[in-house]
Amino acid sequence: MTILVTGVRGRVGRAVLDQLLAGGEAVRAASSSPGELDLPEGVEGVRFGDGGAEALPAALAGVRKVFLYAVRGGVADFVAAAKEAGVEHVVLLSSLSVESQDAETDVIARSHLVVEQALSASGIDWTFVRPGAFATNTLQWSGPIRAERRVRLAYPEAYGEPVHESDIAEVSVRALLEDGHRNTAYRVLGPESLSSRQQVEQIADAIGEPVAVTPISHQQQRDELLRFLPGPVTDTLLSYQARRDGVPGKPEGDVQAVLGRPARPFAQWAWEHAEAFR
Ligand SMILES: NC(=O)c1ccc[n+]([C@@H]2O[C@H](COP(=O)([O-])OP(=O)(O)OC[C@H]3O[C@@H](n4cnc5c(N)ncnc54)[C@H](OP(=O)(O)O)[C@@H]3O)[C@@H](O)[C@H]2O)c1
Repeated sequence: MTILVTGVRGRVGRAVLDQLLAGGEAVRAASSSPGELDLPEGVEGVRFGDGGAEALPAALAGVRKVFLYAVRGGVADFVAAAKEAGVEHVVLLSSLSVESQDAETDVIARSHLVVEQALSASGIDWTFVRPGAFATNTLQWSGPIRAERRVRLAYPEAYGEPVHESDIAEVSVRALLEDGHRNTAYRVLGPESLSSRQQVEQIADAIGEPVAVTPISHQQQRDELLRFLPGPVTDTLLSYQARRDGVPGKPEGDVQAVLGRPARPFAQWAWEHAEAFR
């Protein structure tokens, strides 16, 4: 039985692929740019995830389980092709934002919600893995920290529960391989609520050098994000930060229940990724 893993240039997709391979599973690696994949000997790379339906039958041939990144604009095609191919279970990398009250109108939540809704209605078994903010989001600070040991933030006191990509992947792999996870949604959060400033401090500890936080205005941060993100996504991300400004959360996720151990702390993530910030 082959498991199709999508988004394998992404950090979560790659971790899922590596964990499945380490367990001896038969996998096929899917990416919007399969030509750029660096895959272990014997692992087939296929095209998937760039909205084209024509690549789906070949990607899904012989596949019974899929680890799926939220398909942009083509979920109906994916569901039709998955049913045709005989796929039995899809584990979706969703987002905790789907649980918010304005999920129908929030662009980030909605892009995951439409995929959850299509899978729920498909007759294929599903597991929704709903992470909060990825610890890897802090890699956007790596350039300024490397260059000038400084991060410019409009909301330094905005809290999040940053989650390690390996924990998201491990929960997903358990859902793919073990019984008892079908037609269930899991909230995947880090073990502590930390402000952005506290995350910068933990990165500073990991590299062994101080890192300054320079407050900037909402508009300045918006202009910086607009250089690499679309306007609606930028505004939604900034609205999350404004909402969590000075507001710690309760890191009550399902990592402990699924994995039988607590989620990895952000300090561990920072030590493991310190080279990116040096
Ligand atoms: N970041 C967060 O805090 C967060 C929180 C909750 C949910 N999510 C959701 O999780 C999913 C992945 O999040 P992410 O993008 O932050 O992390 P990621 O796991 O690193 O994924 C990167 C994505 O970008 C694609 N990609 C395109 N060009 C790439 C390149 N040059 N290098 C690497 N990947 C490239 C990859 O797929 P291909 O290989 O197919 O191109 C992959 O889908 C999204 O659906 C996101 O909305 C994210």
